[in-house]
Amino acid sequence: MGIESTAHTFGAGVVSSGGEVLSNVWDSYRSPTGGMKPHELAEHHSRVAIEVIREALEEAGTGIEDVSIVGYSRGPGIGQALLVGAFVARSLALRYGKPLVGVNHPLAHVEIGRKVTGSRDPVVLYVSGGNTQVITHNGRRYVVLGETLDIGLGNAQDKLGREIGLAFPAGPKLDGMRGRWIELPYTVKGMDLSFSGLLTEALRRIRAGERIEDVVWSFMEVAFSMTVEVAERALALSGKGELLLVGGVAASPRLREKAEIMCRERGVELKVPPVELVRDNGAMIAWTAILSYRIGRADVIDESSIRPQWRIDEVEWPLIEV
Ligand code: ATP
Ligand code: FE2
Repeated sequence: MGIESTAHTFGAGVVSSGGEVLSNVWDSYRSPTGGMKPHELAEHHSRVAIEVIREALEEAGTGIEDVSIVGYSRGPGIGQALLVGAFVARSLALRYGKPLVGVNHPLAHVEIGRKVTGSRDPVVLYVSGGNTQVITHNGRRYVVLGETLDIGLGNAQDKLGREIGLAFPAGPKLDGMRGRWIELPYTVKGMDLSFSGLLTEALRRIRAGERIEDVVWSFMEVAFSMTVEVAERALALSGKGELLLVGGVAASPRLREKAEIMCRERGVELKVPPVELVRDNGAMIAWTAILSYRIGRADVIDESSIRPQWRIDEVEWPLIEV
């Protein structure tokens, strides 16, 4: 069983030792006014935790006694949210005598993506609220070839959404808007990118009275093009033959379309997992906990902890055949 609680989502999933997703249940915090306050996340997660776990077990047709490993998201993420998942996981592990495995959250996005798409050694475009990274495996571990120098693409979208009165998360609504093209700042530096200038200018244009649809459409086009450009550069430099899209923003049809065109032109295979497995979820944590356990990475319960700043490239991790 895996428990996810890095940010807005409290999730629990049950995965078989062979990687079949038996259940994947979540409850995500929503805010009518936008924004995410850490203590509100913690309150949300504590309120829904037991019910989400109960449902995940029920859907999987199993009892907690039959679960063999309890995994949880150790980081990176928002401290107060992470603590709830870690606390619940540790309690279950202690109470039922199960091994406990703390999982790196971005690694879990990558591993479940590889598993369900049958991708072997991809360049990964990880685009979520808090993260925008281009990742690949270097033979010893996953390394970050390029990333946002300021905010994640999803957070930039959500801030724009908040300005025009959309509830959090705004991504899906913004993604559906169509307008006329206007010029906005496009910032790619090698394989790194930056969204803060783009966001500031988009907010300025909206406040100056330009048509919301035009600003939103152009903002999304620029943000997605920047992201696909760095992915293309990573593919060119690494010579790898697959691009794997993960993270909540990978649900965007327009981002997929742009990635598809680039991959077709380069003769690279595009791999996109189903939406319920690209967003934050418990099943990805369960699967990565299984892999971790296989390579001998269970926690010593007394020393288990959260790591709010933990990067994927700090984890020594082989490229596991799945
Ligand atoms: P992480 O902790 O990995 O940074 P996260 O907490 O941001 O993840 P995810 O569920 O991976 O959570 O991603 C959420 C983001 O995905 C939000 O910013 C949301 O606006 C965005 N999103 C969801 N659906 C779409 C869509 N169809 N188009 C664009 N963005 C989307
Ligand atoms: Fe995530």
